Amino acid sequence: QRITVAIDGPSGSGKSSVSKEAARRLNAAYLDTGAMYRAVTWHALDAGTDLADAAAVTAAVKAAELFISTDPDVERITIHGTDVTEAIREPFVSAAVSAVATNLQARAELVARQRAIINEHERIVAEGRDITTVVAPDADARILLTASEEARLRRRGLQLGGTQSAAELEAQVLARDAKDSTVVNFQVAADGVVTVDSSELDFEQTVATVLEAIKA
Ligand code: CDP
Repeated sequence: QRITVAIDGPSGSGKSSVSKEAARRLNAAYLDTGAMYRAVTWHALDAGTDLADAAAVTAAVKAAELFISTDPDVERITIHGTDVTEAIREPFVSAAVSAVATNLQARAELVARQRAIINEHERIVAEGRDITTVVAPDADARILLTASEEARLRRRGLQLGGTQSAAELEAQVLARDAKDSTVVNFQVAADGVVTVDSSELDFEQTVATVLEAIKA
């Protein structure tokens, strides 16, 4: 039967890998909303859009021809036909993405598109920063995946393959979280949202805990 699962959390909470695995086990689609913010940011940078110009950023987001795979086994996102699946993970995109994420008109446009994608699917797990509160507050299950700062930075370090120094990475992740926090609340669970703290859990334990929270 139909099921919509909303999962929010900060960088390094394990949100993406855990949400993807939960989607597989639920035989559901998977939506990575952060990838959409990253893709429009990549495109704005590529097109030379002034990220400080909110109106220009909004216009670029509204005009964006965005396609994102919702198959948990196929990671693919294109913008204006260009495959940016790998490019959006580059540190220069992470460093610039808050310019889009803190633009309320750009957010409204992406939120509308995310809702449309969610509505197209009978079964879907959507993850991000504002899915439990803004995009799908009426989801069947709503989870906030948290982890201690130490655990989050450790996981981010592993994910990036250790090319950046630990101090650099720490400063970047904390700065991005601080900027994001000015427009989205992903630190405290909203009413009715179940918190899963993954600090002391390995991947398999986190997936199991999330699946239990979904069934409850
Ligand atoms: O890789 P990480 O988990 O840190 O972030 P992400 O999920 O790829 O999201 C990248 C950025 O997009 C975040 O830092 C937010 O600025 C923004 N974002 C957002 O504002 N709202 C969402 N629902 C998802 C992402």
